[in-house]
Amino acid sequence: MTDMITRAQATLRANDRDGYAVPTARLYPFQWNWDSAFTAMGFSTFDETRAWREIERLLEGQWDDGMIPHIVFHAPSDDYFPGPEVWGTTHTPPTSGITQPPVLATAARCIFDTATNRGDAEARMAAIFPALLRNHRWWEAARDPQRTGLVALLHPWEAGMDNSPAWDRAMARVPTDTATVIRRRDNVHIDPAMRPRAEDYQRFIHLVDLFHDVGWDPARMYAVSPFRMADTGTVSMLLRAEQDLLVLSQRFGGAAEQQEIAERIARQRAGIATLWNDAAGIWMARDLIDGAPIEVGTSAGFLPLYAHAANPGQVRRAAATLARWAGCVRFLVPSTDPAAPAFEPLRYWRGPIWAVVNWMIADGLAWAGETALAARVRADTIAVIDNAGPREYFDPTNGNGAGGANFSWTAAIRLLLAA
Ligand code: GLC
Repeated sequence: MTDMITRAQATLRANDRDGYAVPTARLYPFQWNWDSAFTAMGFSTFDETRAWREIERLLEGQWDDGMIPHIVFHAPSDDYFPGPEVWGTTHTPPTSGITQPPVLATAARCIFDTATNRGDAEARMAAIFPALLRNHRWWEAARDPQRTGLVALLHPWEAGMDNSPAWDRAMARVPTDTATVIRRRDNVHIDPAMRPRAEDYQRFIHLVDLFHDVGWDPARMYAVSPFRMADTGTVSMLLRAEQDLLVLSQRFGGAAEQQEIAERIARQRAGIATLWNDAAGIWMARDLIDGAPIEVGTSAGFLPLYAHAANPGQVRRAAATLARWAGCVRFLVPSTDPAAPAFEPLRYWRGPIWAVVNWMIADGLAWAGETALAARVRADTIAVIDNAGPREYFDPTNGNGAGGANFSWTAAIRLLLAA
């Protein structure tokens, strides 16, 4: 075992809190939704039982309507804002009231497929499958009531890419006044130059207050939200997860479930196709309030490849776009087009490399037959992690690590890339 594999496993063990992993100590002291999906896959490379526990503990936070919240507050902590008292939801254990990208069915399938303890895997998967199905039904019912094939995000945090420049135009519409007093803790742990700005946080919390005021009711949230976004990342992760759920349904569901999932897949495929921007050679988000295309290239714009939702012409164009990006930075994949005015190599989702996104892009490129580019993305991901450790994100211009240290999902990706 190389040193970094040992270190990545040790990172996951150190972040373990009784069956769930925190993304990193102090900065993120609870269980996060999509982090846990990747973390579970990472655990599955050396501890299957622990991998299943990660998913089971996340599902403790699932709401009756099927929503899986973006944070489950299993145990109290003063290190994070906004904590459970700000969200004011009624679930036990306490949770936030918004969601995050649905990677869970993909993780469950991955763990199930590679499990060596087949009896245990069968039993645990049988127990989890109905919860995954309910979650996918929630996505369509709550976030795509007109069945356009494009689910709406109501908060940038739901994208998992909090301050992506793709949200700037729509967030300008969100007022900066808040009923909640903002007491940020992230800036105490991390250099503020690498975090979202004060104004971003005011808008983030304005939306939280607004949804709190409508009692976290999904239909009312959808109706009142000034932010309603079709994000190329989320729609792609959902479509990929639907395909994984379809495979699982062949073993754990019935004909009716398979039919239902297949219909959602068809709708989502058609929806994603409308996000292709031919002039730019990449998929781009759409503002669902006014229908405007969001003219900024982000790493999420390559994720339809991971959803297996690209035709050969789009694959060629998207690969050329990524090759152009590679000419501007030392390591792939910057989270924002490095030639765009919004590009900031150290500020969170406005430029840095994120290992989980790289892993999905590489997977999509390999599916599309772009093997050389897939290998390049994987090699760059390994290079930056091995150089700087499992940091939260990395500067694409020089590979330096940034944000928090000892990050679970970065460690998990390093393990998956070695497996
Ligand atoms: C930040 C990231 C989000 C992640 C969370 C925990 O909020 O933007 O994607 O889930 O941290 O790591």
